[in-house]
Amino acid sequence: MWNPKPFFIVISICFFALSKCTSAASGGKPLVTASGGKPLVTAITKDANTLLYTAPLKDGRPLVVDLSGPAITLACSSKTGTVTRLSASATDGANPLFPVSFSAAASCASKAPAGAVGVAGLAPSSQSSFPAQVARTQKVAKKVALCLPSDGKTTSGNSVGVAIFGGGPLFFIPSDRGDFTTMLAGTAPLHGFNGSPGYFLSATGITVDRKKVPLSVSGPLVVGLSSTIPYTALRADVYAPFVKAFDQAAASPNFSPFVSRVAAVAPFERCYNSTKLSVGLSRLGYPVPQIELLLEGGQSFSVLGANSMVQVNANTACLGFARMKAAGGHQAPAAVIGGFQLENHLLVLDEEKKQFGFTTYLGAIGLSCSSFNFTRAA
Ligand SMILES: *[C@@H]1O[C@H](CO)[C@@H](O)[C@H](O)[C@H]1NC(C)=O
Ligand SMILES: *[C@@H]1O[C@H](CO)[C@@H](O)[C@H](O)[C@H]1NC(C)=O
Repeated sequence: MWNPKPFFIVISICFFALSKCTSAASGGKPLVTASGGKPLVTAITKDANTLLYTAPLKDGRPLVVDLSGPAITLACSSKTGTVTRLSASATDGANPLFPVSFSAAASCASKAPAGAVGVAGLAPSSQSSFPAQVARTQKVAKKVALCLPSDGKTTSGNSVGVAIFGGGPLFFIPSDRGDFTTMLAGTAPLHGFNGSPGYFLSATGITVDRKKVPLSVSGPLVVGLSSTIPYTALRADVYAPFVKAFDQAAASPNFSPFVSRVAAVAPFERCYNSTKLSVGLSRLGYPVPQIELLLEGGQSFSVLGANSMVQVNANTACLGFARMKAAGGHQAPAAVIGGFQLENHLLVLDEEKKQFGFTTYLGAIGLSCSSFNFTRAA
């Protein structure tokens, strides 16, 4: 039976005395195969049934990517966890270079999420998260460049996104457009929140079509990021005035020719005739009022039609925001940004700088999260 303590001692010895420790740790056979200080790249796909994002990190089998997960979790029964081998590819930021397989400590859960064999937790401030273990074994930064793909139904593309662990650079095709981790539309400081694992931002407000949504809460809004909830959840006291503001903006002459309400389709409350919306369809998605989250530091995260309107059937698209389930009252974050609103932006989660960075909606510049070149470089 594996005992976690000696493993962590070996890891910390290796961490402080980087030479020769890999062979010492396992009696001559390398415990860790390193990328030589290069970041690791993996593909990300969206599971059409669960709406979860997965990466083929466990012998090519999928782990759910969880921004709020503090650990790597597999289906197993040991109380002390297990050691597993995970694999990805070293990258120069433009292509995969060569496969890398490395040992990682995982905790056990009785069941893996549907469609996956476990979870790769990406939460910051955890020694057992996937990025922390990659940083330790590959000697790269605790920094993740994450590009969540859509399911291929709502936008074009083959719906394979990309993540680079260890930071950038990250190039899309054609690679002469440069390193997108340095072409951010905005950044904001990362915070903790009541000891919860995950990434949290502070916001000063929300606008719809450039008008500030009047909120009853005073002071900064806590905003979480989640890759395991499909649509942004707003706390009830934020959801109601937000929807009211969206209704008002949608009724204005700029939008009213396109925006025509139809019966709601659960879990959404605001649904529209997408045949009418299609008349104004552009690279930015359907022509609906733009939503902006005003972030600490003065920059804002914009949600255009492509990230706000969910095509629920051939004739109907719905505002992809949900009312948060009641638990917690004002203890809960004001908003948790879900997968759909994060898709097709390159996100840079920099634990060392404690900074969240994001590009513009990639569709606006003719790209998507499927624009990474997964052909191995010769
Ligand atoms: C949606 O709009 C189209 C085009 O204006 C119209 O023909 C159709 O009847 C509308 N459908 C509904 C359900 O309102
Ligand atoms: C993808 O990368 C491969 C290997 O470097 C290269 O040969 C190919 O031209 C690239 N594809 C595109 C579309 O740039």
